[in-house]
Amino acid sequence: MSENHSTSIMQNEVCFRLQDQPNSWDIDVYMNNGGYRVWQNVLNGKISAAEVVKEVQTSGLRGRGGAGFPTGLKWSFMSRDLPGQKYVVCNSDEGEPGTFKDRDILRYNPHQLIEGMAIAAFVVGADTGYNYVRGEFVEPINRFNEALKQAYERGLLGINIMNSNVSMNFYYHSGAGAYVCGEETALIESLEGKKGQPRFKPPYLASYGLYGKPTLVNNTETLCSLPVILEKGGQWFKDIGVENSGGSKIFSVSGHINKPGNYEVRMGTPFKDLLELAGGMRDGKKLKAVIPGGPSTPVIKGKDALNMTMDFDGISKAGSALGAGSVIIMNEDTDMVKVLENIAHFFYDESCGQCTPCREGTGWIYRVVKRLRQGQGTTQDINNLSDVASRIENNVICGLGDAAAVPAMSFVKHFRKEFKQLVTD
Ligand SMILES: Cc1cc2nc3c(=O)[nH]c(=O)nc-3n(C[C@H](O)[C@H](O)[C@H](O)COP(=O)(O)O)c2cc1C
Ligand code: SF4
Repeated sequence: MSENHSTSIMQNEVCFRLQDQPNSWDIDVYMNNGGYRVWQNVLNGKISAAEVVKEVQTSGLRGRGGAGFPTGLKWSFMSRDLPGQKYVVCNSDEGEPGTFKDRDILRYNPHQLIEGMAIAAFVVGADTGYNYVRGEFVEPINRFNEALKQAYERGLLGINIMNSNVSMNFYYHSGAGAYVCGEETALIESLEGKKGQPRFKPPYLASYGLYGKPTLVNNTETLCSLPVILEKGGQWFKDIGVENSGGSKIFSVSGHINKPGNYEVRMGTPFKDLLELAGGMRDGKKLKAVIPGGPSTPVIKGKDALNMTMDFDGISKAGSALGAGSVIIMNEDTDMVKVLENIAHFFYDESCGQCTPCREGTGWIYRVVKRLRQGQGTTQDINNLSDVASRIENNVICGLGDAAAVPAMSFVKHFRKEFKQLVTD
């Protein structure tokens, strides 16, 4: 276990455990640190698929892609014994503004991700996997590809691996940079070479996914956690976290702080400790607001964040959600209307246009906020923001529309005074 003792806060125990090792992305470094042992044990029958599922269920691992769905439960929707082609897909699209963790996994620990993908594929009975990576991630893509090559050369991927009768082939696919393509059904459409627009659900991907075949989609961090869970045991992973949030979590911390960056800490770590790890507030300014999980999660006031713990329930209790783990910190000088305008423009720009409430509503929200910020808004405009947002929510095909509604409502709820001031002044 690699521990960073620069503070008393436990760090880098799972996905970033090789962070301090030179060339951590190289297969020799990975294997010298016990890498691919779990995969080899799966291949030679020492660990069965049922045992893997049991450990993952015990671990309390929940998806790190945003929704926090229990991973073991998701896997149970796909039967290993069902004959026919199945696929596993790793989601490395990472488009949520403020999130920058998955690219660092690809950069610094690609073999652990490949091992995790292989284990997950084996469990659901897939022999083919894709990693859908955001196209701008040039260095992470190169590292991942080089790692794939090394894994093939060492006979850890390919046909009839180690005479086990198990075959596993993985490929990467570079996305063109649309936020909506991180949504799992849009990602599948894009992977199939079509326009990246979300599908109606049901049917769910577990029965009708890539090329109409059962498909498992998991986030990069979720898959990368698997080898460590299986090496140390599900109970170990559960115990380092808190109730309902097993394990550790990478938080991408950005904004008005001294040391922006990725911090892998135990679930349940107090927000105050995370802020301290990130070097505290820049220029000694006061904390005004925090978006704990990326712009698709509600903004909260700084004073509410200070008592929050960084786990699913802790963040929910503070009035927001863990989301993709992108913690955006804002100081006392921040113009909250301007922040909302920026976020609203993002969702407006990224809406795929299929559903009327999202296509039209995101544009309305953006234009109303812009009008308010330019001093041309009315009090009715402020009320309309929440009204329009509530008409998008739950009336659309995918989570992007719902996500677009969240900031509009939470910014007005917590910072109404600032919106009003723009009208009255
Ligand atoms: C608009 C939108 C964008 C998304 N972007 C991502 C993404 O970039 N990466 C990701 O892993 N999940 C993303 N998701 C969530 C995926 O649809 C899916 O739930 C996730 O990949 C499942 O993996 P997990 O169970 O391991 O979390 C997005 C969802 C929505 C609605
Ligand atoms: S909610 Fe928005 S992004 Fe999602 S399918 Fe509908 S229009 Fe497209």
